[in-house]
Amino acid sequence: MQVLTIWPGLLIMFFMFDTLEGYIKPGSPEEKLVQQIDFSRLPVHVAIIMDGNGRWAHQRNLSRTEGHKAGTESVKEVVEASARLGIKYLTLYAFSRENWKRPKEEVNTLWKLLYDYLMEQKQVLLQNDLKLKVIGDKKGIPYPVRRELNSVERQTRNNQRMTLILALNYGGRQEILEAIKKVLKRKSKPDEVNEQMFSRYLDTAGIPDPDLMVRTSGEMRLSNFLLWQIAYTELYITPILWPDFRRIHLFEAIIEYQKRERRFGGLGEGKNDR
Ligand code: IPE
Ligand code: IPE
Ligand code: MG
Repeated sequence: MQVLTIWPGLLIMFFMFDTLEGYIKPGSPEEKLVQQIDFSRLPVHVAIIMDGNGRWAHQRNLSRTEGHKAGTESVKEVVEASARLGIKYLTLYAFSRENWKRPKEEVNTLWKLLYDYLMEQKQVLLQNDLKLKVIGDKKGIPYPVRRELNSVERQTRNNQRMTLILALNYGGRQEILEAIKKVLKRKSKPDEVNEQMFSRYLDTAGIPDPDLMVRTSGEMRLSNFLLWQIAYTELYITPILWPDFRRIHLFEAIIEYQKRERRFGGLGEGKNDR
């Protein structure tokens, strides 16, 4: 590691994510898992439904707020681990359109935690060449949070290493309806509407569909997440509650993903001529 003697340099060193080297302890259970990962077949895009903060808190007799706070630690770890692994797109479902149904205090807490996360992590995103992108209805996001999101998106727009996509005030159905409205406004002829052109009207325009979708806390549902984009995504549901989710669980999900045979409706590799 580079030795930096000046204070700003020290700050840079502190924030830099390198590769997995030095991040994973030799001989640790994490290292054993990492050795099983085929780095030539990593999922390009991983999407995560971060669920279970409330249950995690309940199990510990804590408030739901404490659960959400603990969840932000998992966010930091998963962002870092994903970037170090070489994942190109990481989408995190942080607030659904339907989450407004929760008590006002909880909703406020969630937006406050996001604001604090941004203030604390924007340097990390900048230093590590990570690009922030928001999907969802931004207009409904409380103004101070929206302003900060816009600013971080602007500052990181040319970053290349990994895109961190936050799904905020997001709903899959609403995203599809908005896209339909835009297509209709363009007065496209019905024959001009196809999958490729339609995808360009979604919030995820230009982003490849997720290869792997992880949901924590065991619920077997999609909760209005990326409905269009997950047509052929591999689903991985783990009982681990989001605040307990660590890089080791991400490695497990990737290993499981690599064992799957993705057929996309065909017969699978090398089986077409049988
Ligand atoms: C996920 O945890 C966080 C958000 C939905 C914002 P939950 O708050 O849904 O936790 P559970 O499902 O009640 O355990
Ligand atoms: C999905 O979790 C939304 C997020 C993780 C942001 P929910 O906890 O809101 O989903 P349901 O209500 O259990 O389906
Ligand atoms: Mg939940």
